Amino acid sequence: MRDKKLIVGNWKMNLNTHEASLYLHKLSDIIDVRRDVEVVLAPTLLTLQSLSLQVDRRQFKLAVQNLYWRDHGAFTGEVSATQLRGVVDYAIIGHSERRHIFHETDKDTRNKIQAAIRNNIRPILCIGETAGERAMGETNDIIHDQLIGGLANATSEDLKDVTIAYEPVWAIGTGDNALPDDVKKAVVAIRSQIKHLYGVNASKEVRVLYGGSVTADSAADYLSIDGVDGLLVGGASLDAYGFGEIVKKAHKGSAVAKK
Ligand code: PGA
Repeated sequence: MRDKKLIVGNWKMNLNTHEASLYLHKLSDIIDVRRDVEVVLAPTLLTLQSLSLQVDRRQFKLAVQNLYWRDHGAFTGEVSATQLRGVVDYAIIGHSERRHIFHETDKDTRNKIQAAIRNNIRPILCIGETAGERAMGETNDIIHDQLIGGLANATSEDLKDVTIAYEPVWAIGTGDNALPDDVKKAVVAIRSQIKHLYGVNASKEVRVLYGGSVTADSAADYLSIDGVDGLLVGGASLDAYGFGEIVKKAHKGSAVAKK
C-alpha cells in the first residue's frame, strides 16, 4: 500500500448535496487520475450516497467521517459500517473532533475499527496529542495509548488495511501546523509502536499520514518526510484549486492515466 501516496479531503460538516455535487465536478476537472496517488473524499453522511453514484472510482475514493460499530438495531441517529459497505472505501475513525467534542473513547475507536474491517471498509485511525499534553512532553505516551486503544483487537492481517493519521489536536483547523521535524519524530514513534505490537514488517508497511492545517504551501514539506505516506486535509480540501495543488505535490511525476 505504501507505493501510493494517499491524500484525504475531510469536508467535515460542510457542503450540502447540491454544493457537494458541484464541487465534485470542479475537482474532477482539476485532478488527474495518476497511479502513484490515491485521492479520497470524505463528505458528510448526507451527501455520500449521491456522490457515490456520481464519482469515478478511479479518480476518487470515498470515505465516511464516522460510523457506528453495531451492524444494525435500535441506535437512533447512527449509521453502521454494514450500511456503508459498498458506498465507501475508507472510514475516518477517532478524529480528534469525535474524541473531544463527542467524547469518543479508545474503546469506541477500537469497536469502530473492527466494524469497518469486518465490512471491508479501510479504517483511517486518527491519533494525536492536545496542546496541554504536548506541553507536558506526553506526545509519545498519547501516540502509544491511542494506538493500543484503537488497535487492541486488530490482527496483523487486519492491520494491512489500516492507515494511521497523526493529527496533533492543536494543529487542526488552527493554522498552527506542526514542524516537519516534530512530525518526523511522531512518525518514528508510531512505527516503533507498530513494530512492538505487530513486528518489523508491519511497521514498515503500515501507511501513516499527517494532518493539521495542511495547505498547498506546506504539503510538500510533509510529503517529503521519511515515513509519511500522505495527508489528511480539512479546511484546505474545501478549495478545489488548493486541494488540486496539494494532490499535485504528491505526484512523483508519473504519467497521467486516461480518464
Ligand atoms: P485542518 O483539518 O486541515 O482544517 O486542520 C484536518 C483534519 O481535521 O483532519
